[in-house]
Amino acid sequence: MKIAIPKERRASESRVAASPETVKKLTALGCEVVVEKGAGAGASFSDAAYNDAGATIAKNVASALSGAQVVLKVQRPIVGGKDDELKDLAKGMLVVANMDPYREREDMDALAKAGATVFAMEMVPRITRAQSMDVLSSQANLAGYKAVLDAAAEYGRAIPMMMTAAGRINPATVLVMGAGVAGLQAIATARRLGAIVFATDVRPAAKEQVESLGAKFLAVEDDEFKQAETAGGYAKEMSDAYKAKQAALMADTVKKLDIIITTAAIPGRPAPRLISAEMVKTMKPGAVIVDLAVETGGNCELSQPGKVITKHGVRIVGHLNVPGRLAEDASALYARNVLNLLQLVIDKETKALNIDWEDEIIQGLCIARDGAIVHPALKPEEKPPVGVSGVANGDTGAEKDGEKEDRSNG
Ligand code: NAI
Repeated sequence: MKIAIPKERRASESRVAASPETVKKLTALGCEVVVEKGAGAGASFSDAAYNDAGATIAKNVASALSGAQVVLKVQRPIVGGKDDELKDLAKGMLVVANMDPYREREDMDALAKAGATVFAMEMVPRITRAQSMDVLSSQANLAGYKAVLDAAAEYGRAIPMMMTAAGRINPATVLVMGAGVAGLQAIATARRLGAIVFATDVRPAAKEQVESLGAKFLAVEDDEFKQAETAGGYAKEMSDAYKAKQAALMADTVKKLDIIITTAAIPGRPAPRLISAEMVKTMKPGAVIVDLAVETGGNCELSQPGKVITKHGVRIVGHLNVPGRLAEDASALYARNVLNLLQLVIDKETKALNIDWEDEIIQGLCIARDGAIVHPALKPEEKPPVGVSGVANGDTGAEKDGEKEDRSNG
């Protein structure tokens, strides 16, 4: 069975869907792996390293994909235009990528029409068995780390306390808003740099996790807060009354801070607005905000996608594709997530695809097959959730009766 690894063609995507390590494992499984020339360059994986791992290097995307049964990508294929990637896909090919299926519904329809079997990595259900395939976690973890380093790079002062002959430098105070996978890693990173760290979240479970990392938990802990976690482990959208109380607490807090890292998200909804322009005005000059939610609307009213700006003396960082800013590690982890998925669908005896369509993981991530959209949350008769991708297992943030398998972060 031939597996193709094309070069990513979207702007600002430096990651790649296979590493020399995973290529070696795929060839050991009996697969033939073909990597497009230069596919790993953005992640510092050379063609020679892929070659040493057992892959063949194809001179272009067409020859990489020719005769392949499986195509591994980071981002969904480009549909139309000069970089159209649909033209090289053959009917029945299994295409594995981050598909952004809710926001990019038309692309999903085009892929289905082309006859591709479409697996969306970000839709892998967050159950224990699928933990090793969880790209939301592997990439968010790196994003949380990098957000702190990006903040440190923009901040005109040191982060740790320093006692020097010329006097004392006080440690930076950092607030992490949203203590999920990215937020917990941001807390740990800021602590390692010597900051005094505060964190907030609307899920009560986050409190203990925040405190176990040595940060102080700040939240409006009323009755609504006690009910804020869905059966799937995500946050619900909070009421206007709660949002007002939360805003009052934050308005009072932000004035004293040096750095804010925001990571708050609600599956199926735009990012919650946690920092208003008015709040930014009250912050100290030279303070830094890094908004990791900028791609889904932003947690800060003033952040701009893909830009680093200064407003009211505050640096506001809105980098896109933050995991891609650590392309080598992000690719290595993503590639392992994909490899773990492939091990589920490749028959070790026949060395061919053998997909169990009834498997909960496959049902969670399969968007299209046999020419049609098959995911229950995306079928034409269903109403898609508003705005946001990465809704694992169709959890749109609403409370469900379904049982949750509890897993810790990271
Ligand atoms: P996410 O990216 O959807 O959201 C990030 C954080 O923002 C969450 O902690 C959320 O509670 C918080 N948030 C939402 N609205 C907020 C608001 N108004 N104010 C402050 N914070 C707000 O979440 P992520 O990082 O993907 O993980 C969420 C949950 O999933 C966590 O409980 C985590 O432990 C759990 N998880 C479960 C896994 C599993 O396999 N079962 C794997 C990874 C995470």
